[in-house]
Amino acid sequence: MCIERNGLHWLGWLLWMVGGPLSAATLYEQQVKTFRPDAETLAEAREKVEKHRDIVIRDDIDARLPHFHRRGPGLKRGETFCQTCHLALPHTRKLRTRSFLNMHSRYIACGTCHFRPEGVTFRYRWLDLRRGEAVEVDARRFPSRRETVDDWRFVDWIKIAPFFSGEPAVPLPGSDFAREVGRRWRDGDLDERTRLQARLHGPLEAKGPECGDCHRVEAPLLDLEALGEDPETARRVYRHSVPQFFRRYREDDQRIRIIDILR
Ligand code: HEC
Ligand code: HEC
Ligand code: HEC
Repeated sequence: MCIERNGLHWLGWLLWMVGGPLSAATLYEQQVKTFRPDAETLAEAREKVEKHRDIVIRDDIDARLPHFHRRGPGLKRGETFCQTCHLALPHTRKLRTRSFLNMHSRYIACGTCHFRPEGVTFRYRWLDLRRGEAVEVDARRFPSRRETVDDWRFVDWIKIAPFFSGEPAVPLPGSDFAREVGRRWRDGDLDERTRLQARLHGPLEAKGPECGDCHRVEAPLLDLEALGEDPETARRVYRHSVPQFFRRYREDDQRIRIIDILR
């Protein structure tokens, strides 16, 4: 009985992995499908999945919330594919950086920071995550221009994302791929969830870039002017004192004192 069930799971898994038109898949999906986790990776993934059973699927949260809570200011549901499993505010571990990273996640797609495969050059553009299309640059999408809550709403589904060969390199939240992953995560047993977690994170970087990888004048990861920012603001953001300050504090046990920011 149990074997039969597992057998079916395996078959579905296999079909998913080999099936589907490869050309329509994003670069991330292609890398997920060809990634073969070794025993050690699987063991680590299993531990992580076991520890974090509390991740709630997005649709479930949504269905239980009254309508006015679903898109309300402050209470941000996830908008990216990654938030099929991850919380709307996914950064919790590091006290010092988490609020900055969560703030950035509102207008920078997860993949911009976590999907940076070696030897691949991306172009970063504003992506409409509902329509799957790049949109024209518009400086009002930058947080430096947003003053009211309405301004925040304006950008919900539009984020800076990596593009490869003119196409988004990360899956859209409403794509077949995202739906299939969500279904497998919801219905899967520990084994299946472990395989899924290992594969999905194989092409990703757990650490993400340093603040200074973007906040610097020399070869920043994101070219803010190309994304529509005016040159003066772009320079101010590159040189902003807060990320400069973070660079000096790498050790986890160092405490931040307000006075140090002003030095
Ligand atoms: C199918 C569910 C699922 C999806 C989809 C998913 N993750 Fe995860 N992710 C997990 C679980 C479970 C963990 C381990 C527990 C934790 O750290 O929350 C994890 C851990 C992580 C970690 C920490 C890695 C580590 O080794 O500590 C990062 C970073 C991450 N995910 C990023 C992403 C990004 C970026 C995406 C989208 C491209 C994504 N995840 C999509 C389930 C998922
Ligand atoms: C601006 C870059 C950036 C963006 C955007 C970003 N991350 Fe991260 N993420 C990081 C960095 C850097 C770390 C390493 C931890 C740290 O330094 O605080 C990290 C760590 C994580 C972790 C490890 C657990 C934790 O609590 O820190 C998870 C899970 C994660 N990110 C998921 C996501 C998801 C999901 C998204 C999109 C909704 C996302 N990240 C968007 C930079 C980013
Ligand atoms: C992937 C690139 C990237 C990374 C990594 C990154 N940032 Fe940013 N940051 C941005 C962008 C883009 C903006 C918005 C620029 C704008 O509004 O014109 C921004 C804006 C900011 C601002 C607000 C500037 C202002 O006055 O409007 C602060 C503060 C900041 N980042 C701090 C940090 C810190 C601290 C870290 C590391 C924990 C970090 N950033 C990592 C890209 C990044």
